[in-house]
Amino acid sequence: MPWFVHRASSLMVLCSLYLLIISLKLQYSSSQPTTTTHIKTHTKTHTKTHIHTATHTTTHTYNLYGKPGDGYYTQVEIGTPPQKFNVLVDTGSSNLAIAGAQHDGLHSYFIMKNSSTYQHTEQEVNVVYTQGSWKGHMGRDIVRFPDLPEALPVITDIAIITTSNKFFVNNSHWQGIVGLAYRALSQPQGKSVPWLDGVLTQQQHLNNTITLKLCGPDKREAYASHYGRLFIGSDQGDCPPPVVTTPVKRAWFYEVLVVEIEVGNRSINLPCASYNTDKSIVDSGTSNLLLPPKVFKAVVAELQSHTVSLIPSLSDEFWVGNEEVCWPEDHQAWDVFPNITVHLAYDNTSAFSIIVPPKSYLRPAQDKDSTCWVIGLDQSHTGTVLGTVVLEGLCLTFHRDRSVIGFSESTCGPPITLGNIDKSAVDFESCVYVSRGVSGLTLASYIMGALLGITGLPLILATIRFACRWNVSPRLNHEVPFSTLDDVST
Ligand SMILES: *[C@@H]1O[C@H](CO)[C@@H](O)[C@H](O)[C@H]1NC(C)=O
Ligand SMILES: *[C@@H]1O[C@H](CO)[C@@H](O)[C@H](O)[C@H]1NC(C)=O
Ligand SMILES: *[C@@H]1O[C@H](CO)[C@@H](O)[C@H](O)[C@H]1NC(C)=O
Ligand SMILES: *[C@@H]1O[C@H](CO)[C@@H](O)[C@H](O)[C@H]1NC(C)=O
Ligand SMILES: *[C@@H]1O[C@H](CO)[C@@H](O)[C@H](O)[C@H]1NC(C)=O
Ligand SMILES: *[C@@H]1O[C@H](CO)[C@@H](O)[C@H](O)[C@H]1NC(C)=O
Repeated sequence: MPWFVHRASSLMVLCSLYLLIISLKLQYSSSQPTTTTHIKTHTKTHTKTHIHTATHTTTHTYNLYGKPGDGYYTQVEIGTPPQKFNVLVDTGSSNLAIAGAQHDGLHSYFIMKNSSTYQHTEQEVNVVYTQGSWKGHMGRDIVRFPDLPEALPVITDIAIITTSNKFFVNNSHWQGIVGLAYRALSQPQGKSVPWLDGVLTQQQHLNNTITLKLCGPDKREAYASHYGRLFIGSDQGDCPPPVVTTPVKRAWFYEVLVVEIEVGNRSINLPCASYNTDKSIVDSGTSNLLLPPKVFKAVVAELQSHTVSLIPSLSDEFWVGNEEVCWPEDHQAWDVFPNITVHLAYDNTSAFSIIVPPKSYLRPAQDKDSTCWVIGLDQSHTGTVLGTVVLEGLCLTFHRDRSVIGFSESTCGPPITLGNIDKSAVDFESCVYVSRGVSGLTLASYIMGALLGITGLPLILATIRFACRWNVSPRLNHEVPFSTLDDVST
């Protein structure tokens, strides 16, 4: 499923070519390398500039970067002498893993024999996702995160990825992943210690807390990059102290309890447990808000009823993330989209809400010159995933020791808001999905679920149909030669 839906190519064509494009949909992927080439250079320049700036300014600037939908990454140095990489910051897994061999779309990888401190182990590790996988072996080496000065260098377990399938994202600029969830998830199970646990063991004075502030795409850079800040320990930078908290139901993923979902101000009225079938997690490694299929259908139906007044109507392809719509940032089309409100348990009988505005759940379609948008919702068979669509604009403090996650409204990002704590008539026990036992096998498949957001391939086709009829004249993207289209059509 394409959760990186924004990665549509920069195809900007005349209205008259619309039908042609539709007919070429199946061949779309072949046009992609051409269209992303330019973007790669462009983004890289920006990213580098910012990393450079960040290391020379105060501790409260950004240390997370990336392209919208490709995840947030931070810099890491591994080995002696240090080899520099970027790793995806993921609250949906617990391994530190790094590319250890050449792979398509990777600019660099860890060279074990060049590190004098590297310790090899024979332990194999193999993580399989529903689409894609990686295999490798465990090793140990010294790891330092230069943009996380509060965490001193530590010798830690690292999974060295030797083969992978659809795990790395072309041109995403990250070569590995750092999992910030609980130890229960780290692979091989019981045999590896997550990086964060190692840091906290070594630095007993640090509180067992992380704060994540995701700021979302930066429109000054035409949405080509996004920024955020990760803090380890109790430092929260300029994040306001949490105003509400939600309990972590079980310490593996950051598993939380969704007790209600509203579209506009109306409940979608499903049994509470259906929101958490089979679980709900907070995952910075997923882009979209993922909902169980029944919930997704109900939310989309409600969104459709709110947006019927749009002419022309939004196509089915739009609602499943296969089509973009294009209108200016201040267009009145925004006004017909309602807020989506997700209520999270505060305690056993009360809840607070996260009000997700259309500016959050309609995501900028990337690699585009114009303002086009894709739906940031998707369905998932492994439960609700509160991905970056819900996290951007908030500060989240994961009190890992107290098993609660604190929320406050951030000073950056989209205008997402937090509602008051309200008493509920419902007993939240009824919201808990009762599983039929968790085997080792299902644990593995849960890990899949969390990471899918970064493995989805862009399968979508940009459309300008909407823009054309809307009288927003589509701007031609001069960076994309028309030969792109010709190539595809032949
Ligand atoms: C990634 O890029 C390489 C070359 O740049 C290309 O061969 C490969 O097909 C691309 N992979 C995907 C999944 O787009
Ligand atoms: C690794 O070591 C070899 C031999 O010492 C050297 O030629 C090579 O440049 C090194 N590679 C990196 C990335 O440092
Ligand atoms: C850790 O948390 C406690 C209680 O919240 C606080 O009093 C203490 O100052 C924190 N420690 C550090 C190093 O910030
Ligand atoms: C929903 O409720 C809020 C606050 O009660 C109000 O400001 C908003 O206008 C309502 N929206 C709709 C669509 O009724
Ligand atoms: C969406 O939520 C915001 C913040 O609570 C509120 O100001 C706005 O009126 C809501 N919009 C609608 C259409 O209800
Ligand atoms: C909430 O419910 C759980 C399970 O029923 C119970 O163990 C816990 O004590 C309750 N907490 C409060 C504050 O009532």
